[in-house]
Amino acid sequence: MTERIVTGTAREEDLSSEGGLRPRRLDEYIGQEKVKENLSIGMEAARQRGEPFDHVLLYGPPGLGKTTLARIIAAEMEANIRVTSGPAIERPGDMASILTQLAAGDVLFIDEIHRLGKVVEEILYPAMEEYSLSWVMGKGLSAQSINLKVEPFTLVGATTRYAMLSPPLRDRFGTVYRLDFYDQPAMEAIVERSARITGVPIDREGVVEIARRGRGTPRVANRLLRRVRDYAQVRADGSVTAEVAAKALALLQVDRLGLDELDDRLLRTIAEKYDGGPVGLETLAASIGEESDTIMDVYEPYLMKLGFLARTPRGRVATKLAYAHLELDYPAKLDRQQPSLWEGDGGGS
Ligand code: ADE
Repeated sequence: MTERIVTGTAREEDLSSEGGLRPRRLDEYIGQEKVKENLSIGMEAARQRGEPFDHVLLYGPPGLGKTTLARIIAAEMEANIRVTSGPAIERPGDMASILTQLAAGDVLFIDEIHRLGKVVEEILYPAMEEYSLSWVMGKGLSAQSINLKVEPFTLVGATTRYAMLSPPLRDRFGTVYRLDFYDQPAMEAIVERSARITGVPIDREGVVEIARRGRGTPRVANRLLRRVRDYAQVRADGSVTAEVAAKALALLQVDRLGLDELDDRLLRTIAEKYDGGPVGLETLAASIGEESDTIMDVYEPYLMKLGFLARTPRGRVATKLAYAHLELDYPAKLDRQQPSLWEGDGGGS
């Protein structure tokens, strides 16, 4: 995959720095107000009853704080957390071993839970439902099924793809929360907090500028802040102002809305090569030389949030807003055609 500065997916450089910036308790966590309030009520109730917190599924684009929330849940419940991911648990035995090693109240965090294999996933069902695990010992005629006990635990699952989760797994979560892109005030508060923690001198306008280009994604904003800090140190007097931030980010080819040349290429391809669309995901992926999963999980959510791209039953479409952003003329024929692309909503405009 191309290394992008604005990807929400964790990059090597984030791993060392995110630890120190990660909020540890719910009251330090900025944004996602509804999710926070619901979690807070649920955890309080579970604590009062002396029970583990109900299994939670968190979904949404990368970089919005799913892992952070899982760690916060463990901290608030005064529990230990065990962190793993769907692709890391290859065999049923791996899953059985993880589950039987959990202590009472532990939080098990499974990132990319939609990538668990079916057989591995099935081990989870009875564990989630009744804290038990059925395991087949031996083979053929001498095979015996034994039931193992699992301590009461909380599963926190995270995924970028809610639709790829199997219905039986989905149904076993007590609550499901969708994380949304952060709004501008929340992004500003996050940039301000990160600058304070890392000791970066920054003025109000500098905060606003970085927040605006951070794609509603804390991980991206924190990464931009590090790059702007470097620029400020080498090309200015070390303090971050709006001007310093704008110059540094222009040099990194991150535009006013946080779009980079890959977003630009994707939108331009739809607009120029496919006359605004609709174009199928696979065709688009081949045209720009990027994986379709990456386009779907990483590029599209933010472009859709901006209203630049729409998914229709017949493929991807670049919107009028996208044409305006790209400074391209919106073809008159699209004005007439596009409303009818949305089948099932009456085809209205
Ligand atoms: N750093 C990254 N995400 C954050 C959040 N949601 N709140 C506070 N600091 C953060």
